[in-house]
Amino acid sequence: MTDLVHDLRAALGESAVLTDPADMAAYVTDWTGVFTGTALAVVRPASTAEVATVVRLCAAAGVAVVPQGGNTGLVGGGVPDSGGDQVVLSLSRMRRIREVDPVADTLIVEAGAPLATVQEAAAAAGRLFPLSLGSEGSCTIGGTIATNAGGTAVLRYGMMRELVLGLEVVLPDGRVWDGLRPLRKDNTGYDLKQLFIGSEGTLGVVTAGVLRLLPATPRRATAFVALESVSAATALLPLLREHGGGQLTTWELLGRQALDLVLAHLPGVRDPFAGQHEWYGLVELAGTSADVDERLESALEAAASQGLLVDAVVAGSPAQRESLWALREGVSEAQKSEGATLKHDVTLPITALSRFVAEAGPALLAALPGLRLVTYGHIGDGNLHYNLSAPVGDDAALRREAPRLTRMIYDAVTALGGSISAEHGIGALKRDAAAAYKTGVEVDLLRAVKQAIDPRGLMNPGKMLA
Ligand code: FAD
Ligand code: MLT
Ligand code: ZN
Repeated sequence: MTDLVHDLRAALGESAVLTDPADMAAYVTDWTGVFTGTALAVVRPASTAEVATVVRLCAAAGVAVVPQGGNTGLVGGGVPDSGGDQVVLSLSRMRRIREVDPVADTLIVEAGAPLATVQEAAAAAGRLFPLSLGSEGSCTIGGTIATNAGGTAVLRYGMMRELVLGLEVVLPDGRVWDGLRPLRKDNTGYDLKQLFIGSEGTLGVVTAGVLRLLPATPRRATAFVALESVSAATALLPLLREHGGGQLTTWELLGRQALDLVLAHLPGVRDPFAGQHEWYGLVELAGTSADVDERLESALEAAASQGLLVDAVVAGSPAQRESLWALREGVSEAQKSEGATLKHDVTLPITALSRFVAEAGPALLAALPGLRLVTYGHIGDGNLHYNLSAPVGDDAALRREAPRLTRMIYDAVTALGGSISAEHGIGALKRDAAAAYKTGVEVDLLRAVKQAIDPRGLMNPGKMLA
């Protein structure tokens, strides 16, 4: 093992290979603080060739590699296990935008570039890169590809999978697959890039990607609305779509408990309404003209006349828009500050969301009185973050009951035709559950792909697949 560290240092230079526990600390614990491991070393290559060298040296030594981007993942996928014999391969030094092509409408970027950097580069070229997440200042393009990230604009633009045209990947044996093509059409057999998108570091290291750019949408119309029920939120969707005329970008949901946590923990935020409501929504239309304001207004009027809205606040300035967005984007951080959290990133057919919430909530509260249901998410995509916070002052109770509560939620989701992960992925958190809730045929196919590409099981072992 010390030979491997020696070889890595010889190949990459001393400063690119960290072995001091203090230097490695930020790389071995995840954002949630739930997953902590130890590593043989953290390596920080600066080029695709260096990534290939690292992977080749690790493969020769039989040492597993854990790819890591911004370490904002929420399922423990990007940190090593506790064995101390894995190498964390951080892409943090590979953040170059290699090319912006206004004719092809594409951008080529290295995997370690933060998502926000790509959004800014697209904007500087008068275009839009639409993926949008609360973690966009820290999460990387490689991480969003590896997790097939979603976020708050999926309703209009789709998930990361739909925004990637080509990839460059270092395979588990150190070979480089150069699939960095900007082609919109390429019907030459299996779509290999799609195998790596959402593979959570288990098939190879993504080193760069070709991303699609879209027309910029400088005009935004945003409202925060109060709702009586989840069924009102889902009933509103077709109406928002109809009035939005293709410009509907965001339709998000927040339960009262979620808003309460944001108000309690985030400085400078305030409740936009005088009274309290059960549910809230954040809607945004984006386009190029004032049309978006008129469309939002007509959607809200139609919703009110059909009894689907209790109240609404429309952002009258960019500052007001930011303050409404802060209420939604602040939930993860606020819930983290509140104590023990159990995350469930579930998705259901949109028409089943209301029934799921109505049935799961009372059953969970009966199982653990005092439990706090922090429900929010991308309702326009059928994606709920059905997160639980411990009863006040009793984190131990949530930890003790966690397996049972999670099983109740996953059983209910599955019975209604949903899935146990909408956008965060499987990682370490849901590895065993994924095997249990997928069909035998699906598990066989996933294992066959893993076996074909990583037969020695050296890429991010213990994640995604049991
Ligand atoms: P990491 O956390 O470093 O890694 C995640 C996984 O990808 C790991 O399995 C890792 O091994 C693998 N990986 C990373 N880089 C590479 C690479 N170059 N090659 C191969 N494998 C790699 N996610 C959403 O989908 N939607 C949201 O709305 C959303 N909101 C969030 C809000 C907050 C406040 C936070 C903290 C997280 C949120 N996330 C969300 C989760 C997270 O930001 C995404 O999963 C993101 O894509 C992770 O990117 P990362 O660079 O931090 O990856
Ligand atoms: C979000 O949409 O805010 C995150 O994906 C949810 C979470 O942190 O659980
Ligand atoms: Zn989310």
